[in-house]
This record gives sequence, structure tokens and C-alpha cells, in this order.
Amino acid sequence: MEADEKEDQLQRYAADLRDTFVAERQRAEELRSSYVATVRALTNAVEARDAYTGKHAERVAAYGLELTRRIDPELAGDPQTEFGFLLHDVGKVAIPDGVLYKATDLSDEEQSLMRRHPVIGFEIVSGIEFLTDAAQIVRHHHERFDGEGYPDGLAGDEIPLAARIFAVADALDAMTTDRPYRPGLTIDQAREEIRAGAGAQFDPTVVEQLDGLSDEVIERIRTEIG
Ligand SMILES: [Fe+2]
Repeated sequence: MEADEKEDQLQRYAADLRDTFVAERQRAEELRSSYVATVRALTNAVEARDAYTGKHAERVAAYGLELTRRIDPELAGDPQTEFGFLLHDVGKVAIPDGVLYKATDLSDEEQSLMRRHPVIGFEIVSGIEFLTDAAQIVRHHHERFDGEGYPDGLAGDEIPLAARIFAVADALDAMTTDRPYRPGLTIDQAREEIRAGAGAQFDPTVVEQLDGLSDEVIERIRTEIG
């Protein structure tokens, strides 16, 4: 084969490779968007039932990702982290309206039913291949750093890091959101409350990173998501 011919052939191979690469990237992108769409649909199915929380899951996911970026950038880059944050309460689909919407205190029986939602959510999500890590966040989002949480009573590092981060993000959103029975706290008040829970409900190293999350970033998330 002539040298010219060889070079032509090599260039054709290179062009083919480039085309394959572009096509693969497009397919990966399509796959990613269908994952995101699936997760959003599941999230909306839960939030549509709970008028109080509105876009709680989206705000928590945004706060959670900001915190995760400071603590473990690789974990923040894993799409399953965001998926787990968004889907944390997916198990509530199995909680009857009468319990989910009850304005007064729950009976012991109702409370134990309500406390099953992390495990129900885990069962829903863990069978989905692209959500196996997200399922760990769903299962452990009500664990406490001191081991007094549920469903498994894990403590400290036994709790997946993303779930420890979630707990702080969740508290921040819950405290700063108005509820029918009480107005939301200011960001400063919420910071103080969360700091008071370091080592008990929350991982102190995560709480420390909350200081790096400025009021501006928190306000921006609140305004953008609503
Ligand atoms: Fe929950």
C-alpha cells in the first residue's frame, strides 16, 4: 500500500472514531436525561400529595449538592447523590392520606407507620440499577449522628456520608420554610439551631461546612426554586 493510501485510510479510521464518539456521547446524554426525567417524575409524584412541602425536595437537593461539593467533590459529581436527595421521601407514597395529612399528633401506631417510609422508599428504589447508591440515601435519611435515628440506628461514619449531608440540608430547608402552624426561622436562626445539634442529630464536620455556604447562595436557591 502506498504511503498516501495508508494515510487516507488512517484518516478515515480517525473520522469513524470521532463519529462513534459523538454518537456515544449523544446516547449517554439521552440516557442521562431519561434518568433525570424518571427521577423527577417519581419526586413529583410524592410532592404532589404534600402541599406543605412544595418544592422541598428540589431545595434540599440544591443545598445538599452545595454542601457535598465542599466536602467531597467526587460524591457531588455522582448523579446518584442528587437522585437520592430528590427521592428521599419517595416511600411516603405508601403512607395513607389520613396519616400523612393528620394535623394533630400521630398515635404510636401511626407514628411507626410513618417511620417506615425510608425502608419503603429503599425497597422502591433499590431495585433500579442506576439508583442503587441513591437508595442508601433514601434508606438512611432519618438516621442521627448519635445513633438515635431510624430505621437502622446507625451512628457516625456508619451512616453514608451523603445521608449525613442530607440531614443538614433537610433541616436547613425545614427550618427556613413557613408552615401553616409557624413562620420559618431566619437563616441565622436556622444556622444556630443546626449548630446546636452538631454531634447529636448532625455530623459536626458537615455542620462546619454549612458556615461556608453563604446566605447569598441559600437565598439564591430559595428564589430560583421557589
Ligand atoms: Fe423523610
